[in-house]
Amino acid sequence: MTQTKLEDIVSLAKRRGFVFQSSEIYGGLAGFYDYGPLGVELANNIKKEWWNTVVKESENIYGVDSAIIQNPKLWEASGHVAGFTDPLVDCKSCGMRHRADHLAKTDSTDLKELAKLLKDKACPHCGKKTLTEPRTYNMMMKTWVGPVEDESSVAYLRPETAGPMFTNYENVRETMRAKLPFGIGQIGKAFRNEISPRDFIFRVRELEQMEMQYFVKPDEQKEVYEQWRKFAWDFLIKRVGIKETNLSWHEHDKDERAHYAAAAHDIYFKFPFGDKELWGTHNRTDFDLSNHAKASGKDLEYFDEESGKKFIPYVIESSVGVGRMFLAVLTDAYTEDEVEGEKRIVLKLKPELAPVKVAVFPLLKNKPELVKKAREVYESLKKEFGAVMWDDNGNIGKRYRRQDEIGTPYCVTIDFDTLDNDTVTVRNRDTTKQERVKISELQEKLS
Ligand code: GAP
Repeated sequence: MTQTKLEDIVSLAKRRGFVFQSSEIYGGLAGFYDYGPLGVELANNIKKEWWNTVVKESENIYGVDSAIIQNPKLWEASGHVAGFTDPLVDCKSCGMRHRADHLAKTDSTDLKELAKLLKDKACPHCGKKTLTEPRTYNMMMKTWVGPVEDESSVAYLRPETAGPMFTNYENVRETMRAKLPFGIGQIGKAFRNEISPRDFIFRVRELEQMEMQYFVKPDEQKEVYEQWRKFAWDFLIKRVGIKETNLSWHEHDKDERAHYAAAAHDIYFKFPFGDKELWGTHNRTDFDLSNHAKASGKDLEYFDEESGKKFIPYVIESSVGVGRMFLAVLTDAYTEDEVEGEKRIVLKLKPELAPVKVAVFPLLKNKPELVKKAREVYESLKKEFGAVMWDDNGNIGKRYRRQDEIGTPYCVTIDFDTLDNDTVTVRNRDTTKQERVKISELQEKLS
């Protein structure tokens, strides 16, 4: 387990404007969070890396952005209305509800096995041994479409972004004239009425996913599955900058797999509360397209020109939560060290992900000539990098600490020497080393 404590991450996230409890002034709402000014930048940078790698840099993966609310028949055909469940126990004394598998500390969701494991277990809330038998609980969030609130107008907020990618399979194939193998990628919100949202943004009720469905010929499924497993692992290390030592594999056994999956491998990350799921690769077989073909009456078979055969494509899915990756990134980057005998907190973020790329400081804010020069440097860097912060408050040491805490890779200070020789001090976040750089060479140096 990493040494970083969850409370340190939560505190930094709040203090520096990364993540706030949603509707905090009303006491919040369990399982819902808001991303603040720096958080939205970090999350956008994470999404940009994923979108660029998966969609933009690829020749045969197409992006979509589908509606959160779809025809409810989609979720009946996908098996979610009947099978998107978690095991639950109630406490008869205090009324608290608990995820039965979490309470039993098992990956199994088999009700009989859970009943056995929980036989003598006390409620963790009130301590009484009054838990009910485990039962299943559907996590779909419901709403009504239109003015009448009855059974006929019930609709669901999507529990995963995957569903509408299957119902758009034929649209994308046709409009893009795509041949197998090809993929559809999407980033968007999903909603799950989790029984016990917990661990900050790890398990929430409103989440954002980055998902990709790759449609393949049935005999390619195993090989492609391995490719997407490798993709996820490499992406986390090379594009997100997560340390390999914080990652591990976890293969789902039969009891643990989602109702649509024939195989599933998760990448686990060493979160402060233990090794937990970060990213799933699933073999969804022809489950989704077959069910949608049956339920909609539409022909979703693919005609393979090479073999002259028709078949329903198989699907390999790559699925990861934005918030979970955000938490993994913060945990991985969070470092406490000492500089000149003083403790500092530093986020060693990959520069591509850092919400602020460069901070610009005039040495003194009451010297107009310094401020004027610093503004010029600030404006020109802002044009180039966008995410540039101005700070003229407090001594330079304090300003460095503030930028370290939010992971800004470089700080540029404009001092009296700047006025003489047009050079500035560039300070590196990780080494804390400073060097003098000519203003004319600054952009190139920072790039
Ligand atoms: N389409 C497949 C799917 O949704 P999943 O394993 O249920 O599979 C995929 O979810 C990923 O979405 C997870 O690996 C995790 O990163 C993220 N995720 C799932 N439930 C979440 C929740 N309640 N809160 C935050 N992230 C969640």
